[in-house]
Amino acid sequence: MKHRRLGRSGLSVSEISYGNWITHGDQIEADAATACVRAALDEGITTFDTADVYAGTRAESVLGEALQGVRRESYELFTKVYWPTGPGENDKGLGRKHIIESAHASLRRLRTDHLDLYQAHRYDPTVPIEETLRAFDDLVRAGKVLYVGVSEWSAAQISDAVRLASELGLDRIISNQPQYSMLWRTIEADIVPVSRKAGISQIVWSPIAQGVLTGKYPPGQPPPAGSRATGETGSTFISRLLRDDVLTAVQELRPIAADAGLSMAQLAVAWVLQNDNVASAIIGASRPEQVRENVKAAGVTLDTALLDRIDDVLAEVVTRA
Ligand SMILES: NC(=O)c1ccc[n+]([C@@H]2O[C@H](COP(=O)([O-])OP(=O)(O)OC[C@H]3O[C@@H](n4cnc5c(N)ncnc54)[C@H](OP(=O)(O)O)[C@@H]3O)[C@@H](O)[C@H]2O)c1
Repeated sequence: MKHRRLGRSGLSVSEISYGNWITHGDQIEADAATACVRAALDEGITTFDTADVYAGTRAESVLGEALQGVRRESYELFTKVYWPTGPGENDKGLGRKHIIESAHASLRRLRTDHLDLYQAHRYDPTVPIEETLRAFDDLVRAGKVLYVGVSEWSAAQISDAVRLASELGLDRIISNQPQYSMLWRTIEADIVPVSRKAGISQIVWSPIAQGVLTGKYPPGQPPPAGSRATGETGSTFISRLLRDDVLTAVQELRPIAADAGLSMAQLAVAWVLQNDNVASAIIGASRPEQVRENVKAAGVTLDTALLDRIDDVLAEVVTRA
Protein backbone atom coordinates (compact mmCIF):
# COMPACT_ATOMS: atom_id res chain seq x y z
CA MET A 1 0.00 0.00 0.00
CA LYS A 2 1.36 3.41 -0.96
CA HIS A 3 0.85 6.45 1.23
CA ARG A 4 0.36 10.09 0.25
CA ARG A 5 0.64 13.28 2.28
CA LEU A 6 -2.64 14.94 3.17
CA GLY A 7 -2.45 18.46 1.78
CA ARG A 8 0.37 20.64 3.03
CA SER A 9 0.59 18.72 6.30
CA GLY A 10 2.79 16.11 7.93
CA LEU A 11 0.04 13.48 7.95
CA SER A 12 0.43 10.45 5.67
CA VAL A 13 -2.66 8.50 4.63
CA SER A 14 -3.00 5.23 2.75
CA GLU A 15 -3.89 5.76 -0.93
CA ILE A 16 -6.93 3.64 -0.22
CA SER A 17 -8.95 4.22 2.96
CA TYR A 18 -11.77 2.15 4.37
CA GLY A 19 -15.08 3.88 5.19
CA ASN A 20 -18.13 2.48 6.96
CA TRP A 21 -21.12 4.51 5.70
CA ILE A 22 -24.26 2.35 5.15
CA THR A 23 -22.44 -0.85 6.12
CA HIS A 24 -21.44 -0.82 9.82
CA GLY A 25 -24.34 -0.71 12.24
CA ASP A 26 -26.83 -0.97 9.37
CA GLN A 27 -26.41 -3.27 6.33
CA ILE A 28 -23.97 -5.76 7.89
CA GLU A 29 -23.54 -7.40 11.30
CA ALA A 30 -20.70 -6.57 13.68
CA ASP A 31 -18.79 -9.76 12.78
CA ALA A 32 -18.77 -8.86 9.07
CA ALA A 33 -17.77 -5.30 9.94
CA THR A 34 -14.83 -6.54 12.00
CA ALA A 35 -13.82 -8.93 9.19
CA CYS A 36 -13.76 -5.99 6.74
CA VAL A 37 -11.65 -3.87 9.11
CA ARG A 38 -9.24 -6.78 9.65
CA ALA A 39 -8.97 -7.33 5.88
CA ALA A 40 -8.27 -3.62 5.42
CA LEU A 41 -5.50 -3.70 8.04
CA ASP A 42 -4.02 -6.90 6.56
CA GLU A 43 -3.94 -5.28 3.12
CA GLY A 44 -2.05 -2.24 4.40
CA ILE A 45 -4.92 0.24 4.72
CA THR A 46 -4.09 2.56 7.61
CA THR A 47 -6.79 5.21 7.14
CA PHE A 48 -10.35 4.73 8.40
CA ASP A 49 -13.24 7.12 7.76
CA THR A 50 -16.56 7.35 9.57
CA ALA A 51 -19.01 10.02 10.77
CA ASP A 52 -21.03 10.75 13.89
CA VAL A 53 -24.26 10.45 11.89
CA TYR A 54 -23.63 7.09 10.17
CA ALA A 55 -26.21 4.46 11.23
CA GLY A 56 -27.53 6.86 13.86
CA THR A 57 -24.07 6.97 15.57
CA ARG A 58 -23.73 3.14 15.65
CA ALA A 59 -21.13 3.07 12.86
CA GLU A 60 -18.57 4.82 15.06
CA SER A 61 -19.19 2.33 17.89
CA VAL A 62 -18.77 -0.64 15.54
CA LEU A 63 -15.54 0.78 14.12
CA GLY A 64 -14.24 1.59 17.61
CA GLU A 65 -14.93 -2.00 18.64
CA ALA A 66 -13.35 -3.46 15.49
CA LEU A 67 -10.15 -1.46 16.05
CA GLN A 68 -9.76 -2.57 19.67
CA GLY A 69 -6.31 -4.02 20.28
CA VAL A 70 -4.78 -2.38 17.21
CA ARG A 71 -1.87 -0.07 18.04
CA ARG A 72 -3.36 3.43 17.93
CA GLU A 73 -0.26 4.92 16.28
CA SER A 74 -0.55 2.46 13.38
CA TYR A 75 -3.74 3.90 11.86
CA GLU A 76 -5.37 7.26 11.08
CA LEU A 77 -8.93 7.75 12.30
CA PHE A 78 -11.18 10.27 10.55
CA THR A 79 -14.69 11.29 11.54
CA LYS A 80 -17.11 14.14 10.81
CA VAL A 81 -19.64 16.50 12.33
CA TYR A 82 -22.61 18.46 10.92
CA TRP A 83 -25.68 16.25 10.28
CA PRO A 84 -28.17 15.85 13.17
CA THR A 85 -27.27 13.29 15.83
CA GLY A 86 -30.24 14.07 18.10
CA PRO A 87 -33.58 15.88 18.18
CA GLY A 88 -32.39 19.22 19.63
CA GLU A 89 -31.61 22.47 17.82
CA ASN A 90 -27.99 22.16 18.99
CA ASP A 91 -27.65 18.52 17.91
CA LYS A 92 -26.62 19.56 14.40
CA GLY A 93 -24.59 22.01 12.36
CA LEU A 94 -21.28 23.73 12.91
CA GLY A 95 -21.96 25.88 15.97
CA ARG A 96 -19.43 25.67 18.81
CA LYS A 97 -21.72 23.72 21.16
CA HIS A 98 -22.44 20.92 18.70
CA ILE A 99 -18.87 20.69 17.38
CA ILE A 100 -17.36 20.30 20.85
CA GLU A 101 -20.07 17.96 22.16
CA SER A 102 -20.10 15.81 19.04
CA ALA A 103 -16.30 15.51 19.09
CA HIS A 104 -16.45 14.23 22.68
CA ALA A 105 -19.20 11.75 21.78
CA SER A 106 -17.19 10.49 18.76
CA LEU A 107 -14.10 10.03 20.94
CA ARG A 108 -16.15 7.95 23.40
CA ARG A 109 -17.72 5.79 20.67
CA LEU A 110 -14.42 5.32 18.85
CA ARG A 111 -12.70 4.55 22.17
CA THR A 112 -9.78 6.87 21.58
CA ASP A 113 -8.43 10.09 23.05
CA HIS A 114 -7.78 11.81 19.73
CA LEU A 115 -9.07 11.98 16.16
CA ASP A 116 -6.48 12.26 13.41
CA LEU A 117 -8.78 14.28 11.15
CA TYR A 118 -12.03 15.98 12.12
CA GLN A 119 -14.15 17.04 9.15
CA ALA A 120 -17.03 19.46 8.73
CA HIS A 121 -19.41 17.09 6.91
CA ARG A 122 -21.06 20.00 5.03
CA TYR A 123 -20.89 23.82 5.08
CA ASP A 124 -23.21 25.50 7.59
CA PRO A 125 -24.38 28.89 6.27
CA THR A 126 -26.29 29.60 9.52
CA VAL A 127 -23.15 29.89 11.67
CA PRO A 128 -20.37 32.50 11.31
CA ILE A 129 -17.42 30.66 9.79
CA GLU A 130 -15.15 32.25 12.39
CA GLU A 131 -17.07 30.44 15.17
CA THR A 132 -16.70 27.11 13.37
CA LEU A 133 -12.97 27.57 12.70
CA ARG A 134 -12.34 28.66 16.31
CA ALA A 135 -14.17 25.63 17.71
CA PHE A 136 -12.09 23.30 15.49
CA ASP A 137 -8.92 25.19 16.49
CA ASP A 138 -9.77 24.75 20.18
CA LEU A 139 -10.09 20.99 19.67
CA VAL A 140 -6.68 20.96 17.99
CA ARG A 141 -5.10 22.99 20.80
CA ALA A 142 -6.64 20.62 23.36
CA GLY A 143 -4.99 17.67 21.56
CA LYS A 144 -8.33 16.01 20.83
CA VAL A 145 -8.09 16.58 17.09
CA LEU A 146 -4.81 16.57 15.15
CA TYR A 147 -5.98 18.01 11.81
CA VAL A 148 -9.10 19.66 10.41
CA GLY A 149 -10.83 19.07 7.08
CA VAL A 150 -14.14 19.68 5.34
CA SER A 151 -16.46 17.68 3.13
CA GLU A 152 -18.38 18.82 0.06
CA TRP A 153 -17.45 22.49 0.48
CA SER A 154 -17.47 24.65 -2.62
CA ALA A 155 -14.33 26.30 -4.00
CA ALA A 156 -15.50 29.68 -2.64
CA GLN A 157 -16.21 28.26 0.83
CA ILE A 158 -12.79 26.61 0.90
CA SER A 159 -11.01 29.82 -0.17
CA ASP A 160 -12.87 31.90 2.43
CA ALA A 161 -12.03 29.48 5.21
CA VAL A 162 -8.36 29.35 4.22
CA ARG A 163 -8.10 33.16 4.09
CA LEU A 164 -9.89 33.64 7.43
CA ALA A 165 -7.87 30.96 9.23
CA SER A 166 -4.70 32.61 8.02
CA GLU A 167 -5.85 36.11 9.11
CA LEU A 168 -6.90 34.87 12.55
CA GLY A 169 -3.94 32.51 13.08
CA LEU A 170 -6.25 29.48 13.37
CA ASP A 171 -5.56 25.90 12.35
CA ARG A 172 -5.78 25.46 8.59
CA ILE A 173 -7.99 23.05 6.67
CA ILE A 174 -5.84 20.33 5.04
CA SER A 175 -8.46 18.26 3.23
CA ASN A 176 -11.80 18.21 1.47
CA GLN A 177 -13.93 15.07 1.15
CA PRO A 178 -16.01 15.18 -2.04
CA GLN A 179 -17.77 12.60 -4.15
CA TYR A 180 -15.49 11.68 -7.08
CA SER A 181 -15.55 8.86 -9.58
CA MET A 182 -15.37 8.27 -13.33
CA LEU A 183 -19.09 9.12 -13.34
CA TRP A 184 -19.03 12.13 -10.97
CA ARG A 185 -16.31 14.66 -11.80
CA THR A 186 -17.70 17.90 -10.37
CA ILE A 187 -14.57 18.77 -8.37
CA GLU A 188 -12.32 19.04 -11.42
CA ALA A 189 -13.34 22.50 -12.63
CA ASP A 190 -12.92 24.68 -9.50
CA ILE A 191 -12.41 22.71 -6.30
CA VAL A 192 -9.23 20.92 -7.34
CA PRO A 193 -7.45 24.08 -8.63
CA VAL A 194 -8.38 26.08 -5.51
CA SER A 195 -7.35 23.20 -3.25
CA ARG A 196 -4.01 22.75 -5.00
CA LYS A 197 -3.20 26.41 -4.44
CA ALA A 198 -4.20 26.22 -0.78
CA GLY A 199 -2.30 23.00 -0.01
CA ILE A 200 -5.48 20.98 0.43
CA SER A 201 -5.96 17.35 -0.72
CA GLN A 202 -9.13 15.53 -1.69
CA ILE A 203 -10.12 12.36 0.14
CA VAL A 204 -12.74 11.06 -2.25
CA TRP A 205 -15.88 9.10 -1.51
CA SER A 206 -17.81 6.51 -3.52
CA PRO A 207 -14.94 5.93 -6.00
CA ILE A 208 -16.82 2.96 -7.49
CA ALA A 209 -20.13 4.85 -7.41
CA GLN A 210 -21.47 2.72 -4.56
CA GLY A 211 -20.84 -0.46 -6.53
CA VAL A 212 -22.25 0.69 -9.88
CA LEU A 213 -18.80 0.83 -11.50
CA THR A 214 -18.22 -2.86 -10.72
CA GLY A 215 -20.72 -3.56 -13.51
CA LYS A 216 -22.82 -5.76 -11.22
CA TYR A 217 -26.02 -3.89 -12.07
CA PRO A 218 -26.65 -4.70 -15.78
CA PRO A 219 -29.45 -2.58 -17.28
CA GLY A 220 -32.91 -4.09 -17.19
CA GLN A 221 -32.07 -6.72 -14.58
CA PRO A 222 -32.99 -6.91 -10.90
CA PRO A 223 -30.09 -5.97 -8.56
CA PRO A 224 -28.10 -8.90 -7.17
CA ALA A 225 -29.27 -10.23 -3.79
CA GLY A 226 -27.49 -8.66 -0.84
CA SER A 227 -26.21 -5.69 -2.86
CA ARG A 228 -26.58 -2.08 -1.72
CA ALA A 229 -29.42 -1.57 -4.19
CA THR A 230 -31.50 -4.11 -2.27
CA GLY A 231 -30.86 -2.63 1.20
CA GLU A 232 -33.38 -0.39 2.95
CA THR A 233 -30.91 2.48 3.50
CA GLY A 234 -28.56 1.77 0.62
CA SER A 235 -31.23 1.64 -2.07
CA THR A 236 -32.28 5.24 -1.36
CA PHE A 237 -28.76 6.52 -1.99
CA ILE A 238 -27.80 4.39 -4.99
CA SER A 239 -31.10 4.78 -6.87
CA ARG A 240 -30.15 7.95 -8.78
CA LEU A 241 -27.19 6.09 -10.32
CA LEU A 242 -29.26 3.13 -11.49
CA ARG A 243 -30.28 4.68 -14.82
CA ASP A 244 -30.28 2.55 -17.95
CA ASP A 245 -28.00 4.94 -19.85
CA VAL A 246 -25.43 4.88 -17.01
CA LEU A 247 -25.63 1.10 -16.55
CA THR A 248 -25.29 0.49 -20.31
CA ALA A 249 -22.21 2.72 -20.57
CA VAL A 250 -20.64 1.05 -17.53
CA GLN A 251 -20.85 -2.38 -19.22
CA GLU A 252 -18.69 -0.94 -22.02
CA LEU A 253 -15.87 -0.48 -19.50
CA ARG A 254 -15.45 -4.26 -19.23
CA PRO A 255 -12.97 -4.70 -22.14
CA ILE A 256 -11.04 -1.64 -20.98
CA ALA A 257 -10.60 -3.11 -17.49
CA ALA A 258 -9.62 -6.46 -19.01
CA ASP A 259 -6.98 -4.81 -21.23
CA ALA A 260 -5.55 -3.10 -18.14
CA GLY A 261 -5.48 -6.43 -16.30
CA LEU A 262 -7.80 -5.03 -13.63
CA SER A 263 -11.23 -5.88 -12.30
CA MET A 264 -13.92 -3.26 -12.85
CA ALA A 265 -13.75 -2.16 -9.19
CA GLN A 266 -9.96 -1.88 -9.37
CA LEU A 267 -10.17 0.20 -12.56
CA ALA A 268 -12.61 2.60 -10.85
CA VAL A 269 -10.44 3.05 -7.76
CA ALA A 270 -7.26 3.38 -9.82
CA TRP A 271 -8.97 6.03 -11.97
CA VAL A 272 -9.57 8.46 -9.05
CA LEU A 273 -6.00 7.93 -7.83
CA GLN A 274 -4.60 9.21 -11.16
CA ASN A 275 -5.57 12.71 -9.95
CA ASP A 276 -2.58 13.91 -7.92
CA ASN A 277 -4.78 16.18 -5.78
CA VAL A 278 -6.48 13.03 -4.46
CA ALA A 279 -4.66 11.81 -1.36
CA SER A 280 -6.90 8.81 -0.79
CA ALA A 281 -9.88 6.95 -2.22
CA ILE A 282 -12.30 5.84 0.50
CA ILE A 283 -13.72 2.45 -0.40
CA GLY A 284 -16.74 0.88 1.23
CA ALA A 285 -17.22 -2.88 1.47
CA SER A 286 -19.93 -5.19 2.69
CA ARG A 287 -17.56 -8.17 2.77
CA PRO A 288 -13.80 -8.67 3.21
CA GLU A 289 -13.28 -10.12 -0.30
CA GLN A 290 -14.27 -6.71 -1.74
CA VAL A 291 -11.57 -5.00 0.34
CA ARG A 292 -8.99 -7.53 -0.79
CA GLU A 293 -9.94 -7.06 -4.43
CA ASN A 294 -10.19 -3.26 -4.41
CA VAL A 295 -6.91 -2.50 -2.60
CA LYS A 296 -5.02 -3.86 -5.61
CA ALA A 297 -5.78 -0.54 -7.30
CA ALA A 298 -3.13 1.16 -5.14
CA GLY A 299 -0.03 2.12 -7.07
CA VAL A 300 -1.58 1.39 -10.50
CA THR A 301 -0.81 3.81 -13.36
CA LEU A 302 -3.36 4.11 -16.17
CA ASP A 303 -1.93 5.36 -19.46
CA THR A 304 -3.41 8.22 -21.45
CA ALA A 305 -4.79 5.99 -24.21
CA LEU A 306 -6.71 3.96 -21.64
CA LEU A 307 -8.02 7.10 -19.92
CA ASP A 308 -9.20 8.37 -23.31
CA ARG A 309 -11.08 5.14 -23.96
CA ILE A 310 -12.84 5.51 -20.59
CA ASP A 311 -13.81 9.09 -21.48
CA ASP A 312 -15.20 7.99 -24.85
CA VAL A 313 -17.33 5.25 -23.33
CA LEU A 314 -18.72 7.42 -20.53
CA ALA A 315 -18.96 10.71 -22.47
CA GLU A 316 -22.77 10.96 -22.33
CA VAL A 317 -23.21 9.98 -18.67
CA VAL A 318 -20.47 11.85 -16.77
CA THR A 319 -21.65 14.58 -14.39
CA ARG A 320 -19.25 17.53 -14.51
CA ALA A 321 -21.18 20.35 -12.83
N1 LIG B 1 -18.44 12.89 3.06
C1 LIG B 1 -19.57 12.40 2.60
O1 LIG B 1 -20.58 13.11 2.47
C2 LIG B 1 -19.62 10.94 2.25
C3 LIG B 1 -20.74 10.41 1.58
C4 LIG B 1 -20.73 9.07 1.25
C5 LIG B 1 -19.63 8.27 1.60
N2 LIG B 1 -18.58 8.82 2.26
C6 LIG B 1 -17.40 7.99 2.67
O2 LIG B 1 -16.95 7.21 1.59
C7 LIG B 1 -16.95 5.85 1.96
C8 LIG B 1 -17.15 4.98 0.76
O3 LIG B 1 -18.43 5.22 0.16
P1 LIG B 1 -19.13 4.05 -0.61
O4 LIG B 1 -19.36 2.91 0.32
O5 LIG B 1 -20.29 4.62 -1.34
O6 LIG B 1 -17.94 3.65 -1.65
P2 LIG B 1 -17.80 2.72 -2.88
O7 LIG B 1 -16.47 2.07 -2.70
O8 LIG B 1 -18.05 3.48 -4.14
O9 LIG B 1 -18.98 1.61 -2.77
C9 LIG B 1 -18.86 0.58 -1.83
C10 LIG B 1 -19.90 -0.50 -2.05
O10 LIG B 1 -19.80 -1.06 -3.37
C11 LIG B 1 -19.95 -2.48 -3.30
N3 LIG B 1 -18.65 -3.07 -3.69
C12 LIG B 1 -17.42 -2.66 -3.30
N4 LIG B 1 -16.46 -3.41 -3.86
C13 LIG B 1 -17.07 -4.32 -4.63
C14 LIG B 1 -16.59 -5.36 -5.46
N5 LIG B 1 -15.30 -5.59 -5.60
N6 LIG B 1 -17.52 -6.11 -6.12
C15 LIG B 1 -18.85 -5.89 -5.99
N7 LIG B 1 -19.35 -4.91 -5.19
C16 LIG B 1 -18.48 -4.12 -4.52
C17 LIG B 1 -20.29 -2.82 -1.86
O11 LIG B 1 -21.72 -2.74 -1.69
P3 LIG B 1 -22.69 -4.04 -1.73
O12 LIG B 1 -21.85 -5.26 -1.56
O13 LIG B 1 -23.64 -3.80 -0.63
O14 LIG B 1 -23.36 -3.95 -3.07
C18 LIG B 1 -19.67 -1.65 -1.10
O15 LIG B 1 -20.23 -1.42 0.17
C19 LIG B 1 -18.02 5.77 3.05
O16 LIG B 1 -17.92 4.64 3.86
C20 LIG B 1 -17.74 7.04 3.80
O17 LIG B 1 -16.62 6.87 4.64
C21 LIG B 1 -18.57 10.13 2.58
